Parts: sequence; structure tokens; C-alpha cells
Amino acid sequence: MYSIHRILLVILMFSRPEIKIVPGSPGSKSREWIEKHHKYVATTTHDPEHLPLVIERGEGVWLIDVDGNVFLDFSSGISAANLGYPTHPEVKKVLVEQIEKLAHAAGTDFYNPYQVMLAEKLASIAPGEFDKKVFFANSGTESVEAAIKLTKQYRKARMFIAFIGAFHGRTLGSLALTASKPVHKRGFYPWMPGAVHVPYPNPYRNPWHIDGYEQPDELVNRVIEYIEEWVLDKYVPVEEVAAIIAEPIQGEGGYVVPPKSFFPELRKLAGKYGIPLIVDEVQMGMGRTGKMFAIEHFGVAPDVITLAKSLSGGAVPIGATIYKADLDFREPGMHSNTFGGNALASMVALKTLEVTEQLLPHVKSLEPLFKETLNKWKEEYEFVGDVRGLGLAWALEIVKDKKSKEPDPKRRNKILYEALKRGLVLLGCGKSGIRLIPPLIISEEQTKLGLEILGEAIKASI
Ligand SMILES: Cc1ncc(COP(=O)(O)O)c(C=O)c1O
Repeated sequence: MYSIHRILLVILMFSRPEIKIVPGSPGSKSREWIEKHHKYVATTTHDPEHLPLVIERGEGVWLIDVDGNVFLDFSSGISAANLGYPTHPEVKKVLVEQIEKLAHAAGTDFYNPYQVMLAEKLASIAPGEFDKKVFFANSGTESVEAAIKLTKQYRKARMFIAFIGAFHGRTLGSLALTASKPVHKRGFYPWMPGAVHVPYPNPYRNPWHIDGYEQPDELVNRVIEYIEEWVLDKYVPVEEVAAIIAEPIQGEGGYVVPPKSFFPELRKLAGKYGIPLIVDEVQMGMGRTGKMFAIEHFGVAPDVITLAKSLSGGAVPIGATIYKADLDFREPGMHSNTFGGNALASMVALKTLEVTEQLLPHVKSLEPLFKETLNKWKEEYEFVGDVRGLGLAWALEIVKDKKSKEPDPKRRNKILYEALKRGLVLLGCGKSGIRLIPPLIISEEQTKLGLEILGEAIKASI
């Protein structure tokens, strides 16, 4: 028996436009919008040279630009539009129904049933057999800020242990924990004091030059030892540590998958000293890796989980901080906001969760296609240094050559552009990574098409 979700999924996968690129793109309309954008809109992260894409609308996994070109999307709006564009039909239905009832009514001052339903659902699916509560916000950085304040007031401590290569956001608290590119921090000191960074167990690049694929436990032991013997034992008094924060897979830092034993060992270490463990699932959560929470791959229950991006399938802004109920803010007013608990966002997220749960087997089924194709390129090309990923979260690291492992952002950017010219939308990650994160509704046929185009773009970069 097919469920309604399954039928809708099949319809979404097969009713689609095809790639259409007018030679000489970006077209004149795109060029005009890009010029006007840079005149009026703040400088953020756009790269008009390599990603000159002006999106007018989206249909499933397809993006249509203002000149009518049609692209296949392997970027999911930075891992937010997991259910495709403009959103999944069932989510759209809820969105329209809810806006006719209630969108915003000060969910942090007045009660509404919608946020309670979402919080109950999140508490029930997040790992950990303990009571949980949820703080609602509008973005990833805010969900991290809430985790910072929550653990500070709980532990009455002000320091944090975070990881080199991490990205946790750009506001002054989360920025302190971020450590993936100097540009994020340039000119903004002082950010929140008290953040101490330690090496992440990156199997491909780590300070000890350990091959983490061959010796995963050795790498994990070095990291844990470093925290315990060089940080906690030498200059960070354990009672001053409010929390340890880590991404289950580093996202912006390059889609770095740590060895399996990392989180169990980190959990053990945090538990030994009574330090809460925050896991930032803003990029990897909500089905992206084939499990609802990426941390489930490691069999660990964090004390705090941060979410945003794909929690609403990208349809409306939302952020959430799920935490062990014992950590709760001590008194009303310590932390709050205006849009948290927004009725519209809550109902959209609730339906998104339901649809995403149905998609998990599909996400897992596409994993081998990525794994095999990307590894084939790694064997074939001297400049494909590393391949890593899980589910529908994959990256290639482009280097000058395998021996030196020197990052080659120039070639990476060329590949991104060559792919776009052929109708495939990709994003970079880390210094010279290419991330492959299609919407979770992508079909096998569309996946093959995307990989074929990327293969051509890689060849064109030679
Ligand atoms: C792991 C992680 N945490 C936090 C953030 C910040 O989220 P936002 O851009 O919504 O503030 C990001 C954004 O990419 C992220 O990847």
C-alpha cells in the first residue's frame, strides 16, 4: 500500500522540467539584477564571478532564473530547502491553512497550541531518554546563542570548548565559537570571550598527520587527550566550562565526517566532568544524512541540539534549541524573542518533519550512488584529494595534488562555474571543497544527471 506521502513524492520526482541553458548565460536580465543587487543590498557571501544565478522561482529540484534558464539544484538553499521548491505540496497546504488562522501572535508572551505541538514532536524524536524542552527562534545563529546562554546560566560558567573548522554562526556569541575562515572574524574582535578551540578529528587533515581513515581510533584518542591533558589540565578550569560544542559533521568547514568513535568518546569526556554537550545540527539535521539527526549515526544523546535551516524545509525562517529540561532558564525574561513560537513557522515545521521522516529510506538509498561516483573521481583525478559524506551530504576536496594536499580554491571555483554553465547548481565549502546537497526529494535519475554534469565540469577544469 502506498501512503499519500509516497504518492506525492513519486509525483514530485517525475513531474519536472528539464535543464535548459541559453548559451552566454547569465542572460541580460540576470546581469541587470546582479548589478542592482550590489548597489542596494548588503555585501554578504555572493560570488558574482562563479555563481551568477538570479533565481526567480523553483519547482521541485529545479531552479528557474530570471532569464528562463532551468537548473538542477544540488545546493538546497544551503541545506535548508530539503523538500524542494517552493516547498512540498503538503507543507504548502498547511502553510495556506495556517495563515488563514494565525501566523504571529507573540508566542513568547501569549500561549498558542502550535508551538507546543512542534516542541512535543521535537522532544519525542530527539535522541535521549530524558525530559526535553525547546526554545524557538528564527535562525541557526540564534539557536546557538540560546544554547550558549542556556548552558552559561546552568553551569554558572563562561568558557566553551569548540572545534577548529567549526561554523556556528556570525553573531558575536556564535562567532566566538566559529573557526572555519578568518574572514568571518576579521575586524570584529572582541567577540564573546571564553571560547577555546581544539582540533576536530578530521581524518584527512589533522595536526598529527594521522590517516584518520586507516587509524580512526588513534585520531580520536589524540583529540580527546588534547582536550583533557592539554586544555582542561593546563589552563581551562573545568568548572569554568559552560559546554562543549561540536557539529556532528562539520558543514561550512568542508563536510568533514569524524570517525565513529568520536562522539561516544566526547560524550564520555563531557559526562566525566559534568559538562553539557551541545551538538549543532543546523546544517546536518533533519534527514540530510539519512537519519533525522546526524548525531544518531554516532549513537550519542547530546544535552543540547541546535536546529534551523531545513526544520521548516526552508519555507519560513525558524530555529530551535532542544535541551535537557534540567538546563532550563532559571526565571522568565532571561531569554526570549519576538518571533519564537510563531504559529505559521511551527505548523510548517511540524508538517516538514512528518514528510522528512518518510524520506529517510529514500535518502539512504541514494548514498551509494554518491559514494561510488565520487570515489571513482578520487581514483581518476590527482586533484580530487578527498571524498566524504553520508546520506545526501557529500563533498569533494580539490587539491593541487594528492601528496601535498595543498588546497586549490581556483580549480574548485572553476568547477562550480563550469557546472553552473551546464545547468547544475552547487556550493563550495571549506577552503577548496565542493558540496553536493540536493533536496531530499531528488530522484535517482536526477541524481545521476547531476553527477554526470559535475563529471563534465570536472573534466572542463583540466
Ligand atoms: C552548523 C551551523 N550552525 C549555525 C549556522 C548559522 O545559521 P544561520 O545562517 O541560520 O544563522 C550554520 C549556517 O550555515 C551552520 O551550518
